[in-house]
Order: sequence, then C-alpha cells, then structure tokens
Amino acid sequence: MRKQGMIVAGVMSGTSADGINVALVRVGEVPRKAELFRSAPSGRRLPPGIELLGHAEYSYPKKVRAAVLSAMNATQASVADLARLSFLLGELYADAVLATQRQFNIKVNLVGCHGQTIYHQGEPAPFLSRKLAATWQTGEAAIIAARVGVPVVSDFRPADMAVGGKGAPLVPFLDYTWFRDARLGRIALNIGGIANLTAIPADAEAGDVVAFDTGPGNMVIDAVSEKLFGQPYDRGGKIAASGKVLDHVVGKFLRMHFFQQKPPRTAGREQFGREFVQEFLRACGRCPKQDAVATATALTAKSMADAIRKYAAPRRGSTFQSAYQELILSGGGARNLALVNMLRGELALLGMRLRLSDEFGLPSAAKEAVAFAVLAHETWHRRASNIPSATGARRAAVLGKISFP
Ligand SMILES: Nc1ncnc2c1ncn2[C@@H]1O[C@H](COP(=O)(O)OP(=O)(O)O)[C@@H](O)[C@H]1O
Ligand SMILES: [Mg+2]
Repeated sequence: MRKQGMIVAGVMSGTSADGINVALVRVGEVPRKAELFRSAPSGRRLPPGIELLGHAEYSYPKKVRAAVLSAMNATQASVADLARLSFLLGELYADAVLATQRQFNIKVNLVGCHGQTIYHQGEPAPFLSRKLAATWQTGEAAIIAARVGVPVVSDFRPADMAVGGKGAPLVPFLDYTWFRDARLGRIALNIGGIANLTAIPADAEAGDVVAFDTGPGNMVIDAVSEKLFGQPYDRGGKIAASGKVLDHVVGKFLRMHFFQQKPPRTAGREQFGREFVQEFLRACGRCPKQDAVATATALTAKSMADAIRKYAAPRRGSTFQSAYQELILSGGGARNLALVNMLRGELALLGMRLRLSDEFGLPSAAKEAVAFAVLAHETWHRRASNIPSATGARRAAVLGKISFP
C-alpha cells in the first residue's frame, strides 16, 4: 500500500553554532484537536501521522562557525559579510539535505529550514521612535530550493512576532503533538545553546501548553570550556565532574533579572553570550579552572529546575507534584552527563522522573529538526502552527515564507 503524506526535510542549526541537523520525516495528517488524541491508545510511542525516516548531523567547518559567532556579535559584522554568510549557509544547508537524502536513499518533497539566528529580540524596544521586536534567521532559502529542487519553507519566526508573539519557542507544536498524554503531565526540555521547555499537563488542549526559555543550555558551559580549556564544549561533562561547584556564584547569578522574568520569555546570546561569561568568570575569581566549568554546569541545571518549579505552573486546584510527573530531555546537552546528573538530582526534589526523548522514538539530537519539518508541512497546507500560549501571540499564525525551485 502506498503511504500517504509528504516527506519533509527539517533543517536545524541552533544558537550553539555547532552545525546542522537534518531530519527526514514523513508527515501525514497532523492531529490538531484533543479529540483525536483521546481516541489514541494511551502509552503509544509515536503520534499518528509523523514518522522519522532518518537523521544526520553535520558540523560547521571551523571557519564557518567562527563567522557565525562573529555575525551574532553585531558590532563586529560588516553588512557585506552578513549578505555573503546568508548565501554561504544556503549552500551548506543544501549540501546537508542532499547528503542526507543520499545516505537514506530518500527524496524529499519539501524542506523546512530554520536558518541560523544571528539576532533575536522577542521583546519590543524603542527604535527610531517606534517600539519594535525584531529577529533575523539567515541562510538563503532560494539557494536551498534551487539546489535540492523542491520548495523550501524558511523564516518561521516573524509571522508570530507580527501578531505580538515573541517568535519563540516554536517547537511546542511538536512537543504537544508527540508527548501529550491522557494521564501524565510532562515537560519536554531541550538543551541546545539555550534551554527551553514545553509543559504539557495531562490531557491538555493546545491552549494549556506553557513554553519558554529557561535560560542557558550549553551556551555558558561551552564558552567557559572554550576559554579555560580550549575545547568547544565539555565532552561528556568530564571537566565538570572533576570540579567543585561554587555555590555562592550559582546563587548570585540565579538572582539576576532574566531568571525572575515571568514567561513567556526568550533568551539568546544577547543575554548569555560574551559579556555574561566575562562577568561569570570574574565572579569565579581565581578558582581552579574545572571548578568554573562545574559551577557553570550547576548554574545551568539549577536555572532549569527553578524555572520548572516557579513557572511550569499547574492548573487551578492541583499541586505541582500532581501536575507533572516526567521530564523528557533532548538536545546536545543530553550528552553532558554531569549536567544530566545534576538535573536528575534537582528533579528528584520535585518528584519528577527524567526520561530521554529517544525513549519516545525521537532521537535527542533530531527533535528540533523534526519540529521544523512538521512546521513546514503545516505552512505548506496554509495552517497555523504557532502556539499562542507559548509565544504570547494574540492569535494563531501561518509561519514562514516559501521559496520555489
Ligand atoms: N558529547 C557531548 N558532550 C557534552 N556536550 C555535548 C556533546 N555533544 C554535544 N554537546 C553539546 O551540545 C551542543 C549542541 O547541541 P544542539 O542541540 O545542536 O544545540 P543548538 O540547537 O544550540 O545547536 C554543543 O555545543 C555542546 O555543548
Ligand atoms: Mg546544533
């Protein structure tokens, strides 16, 4: 029997600027109403209508990573370089999709490409006498469409911001579709450069979903590892595991404004980039180098648990413990065992169990790429896919722009 639906390549490159994830996804009809879920047997592993066919990761060449990082640092970037970077990334995204197609011997019908965020300001602020929010994901989609030979949906965030949303997070659409459970309250936590969560109460409707950035994911750990050890990240969390946590430093930074902000809230290099790391290292003083990495790791884990405790608020009448039982982890940070162990300890205090997205048939590293495949599919069918309760938008919006080959 011929399978229904489209095959969509989801392409993700996050704020870590480590590289490109490509997921090949067969998308049939995405169930949108709670009724559809109710008829599904409880404990199912996969949501109806979405099938992951393959996933691959490609690191950015070192010089490209450096260029991306410096583009994020607006004061260093030239306009010409930004324009060239956009076209270069278009080529790299296309190469990544073509290589993944070859690897799995699958041809896609559509591409959904998030692009590389070089600026994100979800909150309106004064600019030339107007108050505006702004965002910029780069990577020329017309190049991808021409090279791969299929339409490409890109630039997902502005449509949500145009109706008052923060343009992020957008992954909750997939989290809600994939992890919603009739009896269990679940929180999906993705640890990329920034960490974001989607809280899905048991038997939730889309409007019950709360989602926001908890703060740094790998971003601060990466920067400290790079600065003190010359390593782009703390592989396996080994450095952190060999150091001691400076509790006073963790406490000091947890009091900062961002962590007190109520959701919806979004974070990026603007909050946890270079300047934050300089201040963090100053606060660590002359401690052994591994202690600084351990402290950055503890700050990261604690900020996530704090955010869950404070803001993944249960619905009326229920206590936290009865609202959420499971945390489902994804993103590159799931490979940092020191971070995962600290997080597991924090969650135990909340009575929550830690699970991996992989246990649900969604490989940790692939989740966000799968999300953009599904979002592209929705856009192709002219359906809205932001979750207003997650982004703060006034209404649902069809996300993205379409480039044709
Ligand atoms: N083996 C590993 N050990 C520890 N951390 C890792 C490992 N592999 C990846 N990471 C972390 O994951 C990050 C990439 O995660 P990813 O989910 O791609 O984030 P983003 O969406 O921001 O690109 C790396 O920068 C690194 O911090
Ligand atoms: Mg990445």
